[in-house]
Amino acid sequence: MPDAGKIEITVALGQRSYPIRMGSSTLSELGTAMLPFNFEKRIALVSNPTVYSLYGQTVLDSLSGAGFDVALIKIPDGEEYKNLLWTEFIYGELLRARLERGSCLVALGGGVIGDITGFCAATYMRGIRFVQVPTTLLAQVDSSVGGKTGVNHALGKNMIGAFWQPSLVWIDITALKTLPAREFAAGMAEVIKYGVIRDRAFFEYLEKEAAPVKNLSPEHLMHILKRSCEIKAEVVALDERESGLRAILNYGHTVGHAVETLTGYKKYLHGEAVAIGMCMEARVARERGLLDAADHERIIKLVASYDLPTEIPGDLAGKQELINAMLLDKKVKGSEIRAVLPSGIGNVRMETISDFSFLT
Ligand code: NAD
Ligand code: GLY
Repeated sequence: MPDAGKIEITVALGQRSYPIRMGSSTLSELGTAMLPFNFEKRIALVSNPTVYSLYGQTVLDSLSGAGFDVALIKIPDGEEYKNLLWTEFIYGELLRARLERGSCLVALGGGVIGDITGFCAATYMRGIRFVQVPTTLLAQVDSSVGGKTGVNHALGKNMIGAFWQPSLVWIDITALKTLPAREFAAGMAEVIKYGVIRDRAFFEYLEKEAAPVKNLSPEHLMHILKRSCEIKAEVVALDERESGLRAILNYGHTVGHAVETLTGYKKYLHGEAVAIGMCMEARVARERGLLDAADHERIIKLVASYDLPTEIPGDLAGKQELINAMLLDKKVKGSEIRAVLPSGIGNVRMETISDFSFLT
């Protein structure tokens, strides 16, 4: 049983089930929490210099204190290092440190560290276990849960990867205190997404409690993390490999990915592009009569209230390149764009889009 003040959610996937444990100031307890998993003593901690300088020593002390012999692997900070070159670097470090089949990788950082570490775990010696210790809001509510791991290729983002579930997700909300405000807002886009796709009451909570959420009230953070991870865990348990339902997690991503691609992944953080995408896709839903005007306006207002963009930048609006970028998305089948559209707050459905006038 989790201690008081801590929350545990299970991602129910049969033999590959695992817990998401969340709490406050819990990084120092990670080592002890990993003991029941019977990993080999020799493990590796993967991080970047930014996150390591803030939380690395606490985590390292906790792991060493629990008897683990830890190889420390740092890669530079940034999306541009989530690639096969740095995957190869990590493999080399793992081999030099003589990690074995029973060893474990610990990913300490945001989605970049989680995705590349998970991919290394999926492929090193045909697969070893790993633990996610997400430190950004986006990673805590989204990328650390669900087993999508991978790296970017020069020709496309997240194009090389594997489904590989972690053994444990260890979330410490205290880490969010050092997160830049813009990164926090980007994570909130994914939180708002859960409200729109699955839970109207949660959407209303985000409307009413915006001020304490933005002030990082621990009670509010625990609630939004719990509800977000519960929804993600439920969807992943029903459709681990995205053959159907899991696609609802891509609400806002069809337009969002196209905006990211056309702005060279520089102008917007992923969550900011998703925020624009959610607003534009809500507009299509309204134009089709799926979403009433009041709910459409509430979505825009909520997104804006968390300091996120709601519109496609003027220089991209209506451009054929934007449509082409959407058609290149790996989730598109043939020349049809299938997007997730809200049919009221709390529900979504898959629809085909062929009229792109909403992008103007
Ligand atoms: P990120 O990992 O680049 O982290 C953002 C920045 O915050 C980095 O500079 C990082 O060093 C810093 N940082 C991290 N934790 C911090 C903390 N506590 N305090 C201060 N600074 C901190 O970005 P992200 O938004 O976490 O993740 C984006 C990545 O996640 C993308 O590569 C995206 O493709 C991937 N992603 C994966 C999934 C999935 O299901 N696997 C889902 C969504 C996104
Ligand atoms: N972030 C979308 C998914 O995990 O499916």
